[in-house]
Amino acid sequence: MIVGSIKENLSLEKRVALTPESSKNLMSLGLKICIEKNYANHLGIKDEEFKKVGVEIKDSTEEILNLCNLLVKVNCPLDGEISKIKNSTILVGMLNPNINNKEITELLKKNIKLFSLELLPRITRAQSMDVLSSQSNLAGYRSVVDSIFEFEKAIPMMMTAAGTVPAAKILVIGAGVAGLQAIATAKRLGAIVSATDVRIASKEQVESLGGKFLTVDQEEDMETSGGYAKEASESYKKKQAEMMREALKKNDIVICTALIPGKPAPRILNEDLVKQLKPGSIVYDLAAEQGGNSAYSEAGKINEINGVKIIGAKNLMNRLPLTASNLYSKNLFSFIRNLYSREKQDFNINLEDEIINKTLIKDI
Ligand code: NAI
Repeated sequence: MIVGSIKENLSLEKRVALTPESSKNLMSLGLKICIEKNYANHLGIKDEEFKKVGVEIKDSTEEILNLCNLLVKVNCPLDGEISKIKNSTILVGMLNPNINNKEITELLKKNIKLFSLELLPRITRAQSMDVLSSQSNLAGYRSVVDSIFEFEKAIPMMMTAAGTVPAAKILVIGAGVAGLQAIATAKRLGAIVSATDVRIASKEQVESLGGKFLTVDQEEDMETSGGYAKEASESYKKKQAEMMREALKKNDIVICTALIPGKPAPRILNEDLVKQLKPGSIVYDLAAEQGGNSAYSEAGKINEINGVKIIGAKNLMNRLPLTASNLYSKNLFSFIRNLYSREKQDFNINLEDEIINKTLIKDI
């Protein structure tokens, strides 16, 4: 069985689905790998490095799409590529079915078996495949680094002969995967960190990283059985806004990471709350592409209101594409290892396997 991969549209996506290391691991399962020439040149990975581990390099996209039984990608294939994919190919990637409606419909018409890794259940067995976690973890790290780049003061406390500079204060809203990594990164850099989340379980996690947990009186835990958040009630939102008003006056950088799966990003900072921040403060909105947790946030832009910079994250993984590709390709390897049967030397679409069933797109 042949696993193939073609180049992504480089103007939008710098990550790659396969690295030499993940290719080698896939080959150890008995699979053959072929990729398009200059596949990862832009990341400093030359074709020779792939060849060294036994990957075949082909001159064109068409050759790969003709040869492969399973195609791995980062994003959903583009219009021009879909017509060239063979019927019955298996496609694995972050296909984002909610957004790529048209493309998914076309692919399904061609009887292409589509596996979208964002749909993975968050169960222990799927942890090594969890692309949302691996990429959000990096997003949390990078959100702090990018905020600090825009912040015009130092982060750690500095005791010098000239006097003492206090540490900057960073508030993280949403303590999920991205939020927890943002807390850890901010702490490492010497900030005084606090965080808030609607899920009571996150208190312990925030505190274990050295952050202060901010919360409001709440009647019920807003965690679903799947470990995600439910939408907050009106009364919770009111109490949260009051708490935020006080917290914002004291903080220098606010990292927004709140998310409710399948819903637009919850709006946590309204115009009035943003105005509570001191001039020179930063709001970094990781949820900008889903509508934003903060007023004035726009994906890919920095807006300045009353001296506060509101940064809307966009394609953050393109700012650390090598690390993001390394982790993504490891996730892919784990997923394919589960899908491939060595005995049958074929891919085994066993719908009784929760991982396979939940990630397979059956209709749109
Ligand atoms: P996650 O689901 O692990 O964490 C989100 C957290 O927000 C949860 O802990 C949840 O309880 C909390 N939350 C929900 N409603 C809240 C509220 N009203 N107040 C406080 N907390 C609330 O999600 P993850 O993976 O950490 O992603 C965070 C955000 O970062 C998402 O919007 C995601 O799409 C975005 N992201 C953006 C990237 C980019 O390139 N722009 C890359 C990766 C993630």
